[in-house]
Amino acid sequence: MREEEQRRTSQPSDLDAPDLRLVLDRLHEGFQVVDRNFRYVYLNDAAVVHARREREALLGRSMIEAYPGIDRTPLFDLLRRCQATGERAELQNEFEYPDGQRALFELRVQPTGGGLAILSIDITERQQLQAQLRQAQKLEAIGRLASGVAHDFNNLLTVIGGFADLAKGELPAGAPAAAHLEEALRAVDRAAELTRKLLALAREAPSRPQGIDLNDLIAGLLQVLPRLVDESCEIATRLAPDLWPIEADPGGLEQLLLNLAVNARDAMPRGGRLRIETSNQTLAEPVRMRWGRPIAAGDYVLLAVSDSGTGIAPEHLERIFDPFFTTKPPGQGTGLGLSVCMGIAEQAGGYINVYSEPGQGTTFRVYLPRREAGASRPEIRPAGEPRAGDERIAVVEDDPQLRGLMVSVLGRAGYRVTEVEGGPAAAATLARLARLDLLVTDVVMPGVTGPALAELLRRERPRLPVLFVSGYPGSAIAERHLLAEGETLLEKPFGSERLLAAVRALLDG
Ligand SMILES: Nc1ncnc2c1ncn2[C@@H]1O[C@H](COP(=O)(O)OP(=O)(O)OP(=O)(O)O)[C@@H](O)[C@H]1O
Ligand SMILES: [Mg+2]
Repeated sequence: MREEEQRRTSQPSDLDAPDLRLVLDRLHEGFQVVDRNFRYVYLNDAAVVHARREREALLGRSMIEAYPGIDRTPLFDLLRRCQATGERAELQNEFEYPDGQRALFELRVQPTGGGLAILSIDITERQQLQAQLRQAQKLEAIGRLASGVAHDFNNLLTVIGGFADLAKGELPAGAPAAAHLEEALRAVDRAAELTRKLLALAREAPSRPQGIDLNDLIAGLLQVLPRLVDESCEIATRLAPDLWPIEADPGGLEQLLLNLAVNARDAMPRGGRLRIETSNQTLAEPVRMRWGRPIAAGDYVLLAVSDSGTGIAPEHLERIFDPFFTTKPPGQGTGLGLSVCMGIAEQAGGYINVYSEPGQGTTFRVYLPRREAGASRPEIRPAGEPRAGDERIAVVEDDPQLRGLMVSVLGRAGYRVTEVEGGPAAAATLARLARLDLLVTDVVMPGVTGPALAELLRRERPRLPVLFVSGYPGSAIAERHLLAEGETLLEKPFGSERLLAAVRALLDG
């Protein structure tokens, strides 16, 4: 016991004041001491970094002199209370630097008799990570909901659109009802676009990445953009020559650009300037963003879309990428535009960053990773002129309306069609057919799945072509390994033309 006591009392001589300072300066935590008048007596290096002031500018001064107005803050109330009661306290405090940057600190205040010792821990990053995690969880939940609904919804849309299409074909030319059906079909297209948005949000939209020259894509869009924005809006471009190729889904990228352009237009009700710029960028080290995850080091193609519009209020900036966040009146904005953009950029391995000055305008920067040489992915896409034939086609689909539609479309084109509801008996029924040239089947069905059915039938007819139709997006199916490589998938909703084209291509292939 005596030895122990000796060691304790001998400590100060082992570690003298200069040593102690060195130790304190190595701490990650800021450590500062103020006297009973809140005058700075000591600050370690981390505290100086946290304060972003010279040590000399603080030492000997009171907190009120150093930070005018601080005595009216809740933080200072707490410090006063600690002084008065001698009790320790903790709190989180957001600090705004003169340049507008913010940092979040956890402060631990310990009364020392004569004054206060304050430990400060920078938790900005930790908090950002937590916010990111919450955001990711939120998106995941919405994604699951969206893809669940989208599946059923796509079935219904295919049926509605398909029958409207058929009905239109049965009307004599110039019949007034044809125009009505035309309207209905347009609404179906819009609804299909909405499901696509929801699925993009769920990161499950069918994506067909391929090598792309972003400048070419922009050049194509420039033909439609003027129709989208007002005449009072000037469109300027600066496209870097020798832009690196990227790997992305062209449809997705077009949508991304259009969403940004539409937002820019909406922000400039009285006209202004929309700028679209591209450039090659090499990031030597990861770039920290104010929100979201950092961008990894590497080569990027940078797409910048700027406007001279209203700008975005600072309190909205953090939320604009949230699904359903909108400042537009009901009926004018769904608030999905930017979250879809972010989904598309992330699907291509990229990221979006925003800079905005209220009253001055806004710039969205989209970072898309440079495509590595030699990377390529072949795609399967039904092609060919829909030419009617007299082949025998079996249609297997558990949804009676959808099945009825496919049978009608194929029947009208001249094919001989056998329809089956699916289930365990389907294989036996189809095996009895004397002739079978093509199987059209749903992928996910109760009882027996499309791929399993195809496999059973191919035991007798090894070369039987199969067209799989599915309301599940292509990527999700690939993930679930439901479809073998090289199989053809037709995603719902599809119109009669796409169905006929896919069927013909398989029969002729
Ligand atoms: N260029 C911009 N200038 C000013 N504010 C913008 C700009 N782009 C987006 N915003 C703000 O971000 C919000 C969200 O944008 P987002 O595109 O996600 O949805 P939306 O445009 O409101 O609706 P939607 O795109 O679904 O029709 C907008 O309501 C607007 O407040
Ligand atoms: Mg929008």
